[in-house]
Amino acid sequence: MKSVASLPNNLSEEKTDLSTLVKLVEDEMGLVEEWLRTNLIDDNPFVEDLLKQVFLAGGKRIRPLIVLLASRATAPRQEEFSRLHIILAVLTELIHTASLVHDDVIDKASVRRGQETINKRWNERLAVLMGDLLFAQASICLARIMNPTVVGIYGQVLGDLCAGEIKQMRQQFSTTVDWELYKIKSVGKTASLFAAGSHSGAILNGCPNNTIQSLKDYGLNLGLCFQIVDDLLDVTASEEQTGKPVGGDLRNGVITAPSMFILEGGGKNAARLKELIDSRAVLEDGGVQEALKIIRDGGGVDKTIELAGDYARKSKECLSVLPDSQYKSALASLSDYVMNRTC
Ligand code: IPE
Ligand code: IPE
Ligand code: MG
Ligand code: MG
Repeated sequence: MKSVASLPNNLSEEKTDLSTLVKLVEDEMGLVEEWLRTNLIDDNPFVEDLLKQVFLAGGKRIRPLIVLLASRATAPRQEEFSRLHIILAVLTELIHTASLVHDDVIDKASVRRGQETINKRWNERLAVLMGDLLFAQASICLARIMNPTVVGIYGQVLGDLCAGEIKQMRQQFSTTVDWELYKIKSVGKTASLFAAGSHSGAILNGCPNNTIQSLKDYGLNLGLCFQIVDDLLDVTASEEQTGKPVGGDLRNGVITAPSMFILEGGGKNAARLKELIDSRAVLEDGGVQEALKIIRDGGGVDKTIELAGDYARKSKECLSVLPDSQYKSALASLSDYVMNRTC
């Protein structure tokens, strides 16, 4: 089976190691982790255990990393880097994690970050409430930032997350290829939060509008690339790699880029894939395996890599307004990492 890592991509020759990027903001990332470890407490030990389970299970922490690198890249003087940027990074991860807990209810997912989901282990009602609890924690952090523009940006993100999931729900099992809708949905589910994280630090730093806008565009393009690669990994990766079940999107009737390329290509492959989706055969193991084989062998993977690559390239171009620094370079490397990631 092809994995993203084993396939050619012309963005960068070398595989970008996430840990080398984290090293640049190691102390700040340490503070983010410490916050998550020490502040997610509840007087109910059951709730506290669940909170710990969700966060200690891991997660790549890409979003706080973007916040910290973009904040550093636009800080007027490095010593002025404030606690507010740490809180910004924390609340971005809190919103992300809350959205995952809710997403697993919507997708009826049983595994996340290699562990049983709350909805599977306990029940959906508890998962909805736990997600809400995390959104509440994020709101408290947002209030502490005391910047109405940033509050508005993150308020918009919360709405975008819901709107993205609703759009996806309404398209379930639809085999009509609509790239614009796919993009809008992916902005709502994923890129909107990436964009909030990439430009809010510049707002706190008092940067000029063109810097703020360019960093917002960086996050939007990177977030789109991230979601497209996620949709690809659902076809190419293993559960051991991603900590999530393979083929989960198809099983849920979520038709993403790899399938869309096959469907729009016409011919026998398109007809058979459409039949497997229309008949709901993809709800069963046999049907989903056949659909995955059609996508992998029919060129859906390569075209999806190309599409993701376009967004990765665009994200890098947005960085040209920034003054040269190791943080600017790291943001560019992050685009390579997202493009090449295997988990
Ligand atoms: C998964 O995000 C959800 C998507 C937006 C595709 P991540 O892949 O960043 O999840 P964690 O935090 O590393 O588990
Ligand atoms: C992203 O979509 C979910 C959110 C950002 C809430 P997916 O449904 O593709 O995410 P995974 O694959 O379950 O992590
Ligand atoms: Mg999901
Ligand atoms: Mg996914």
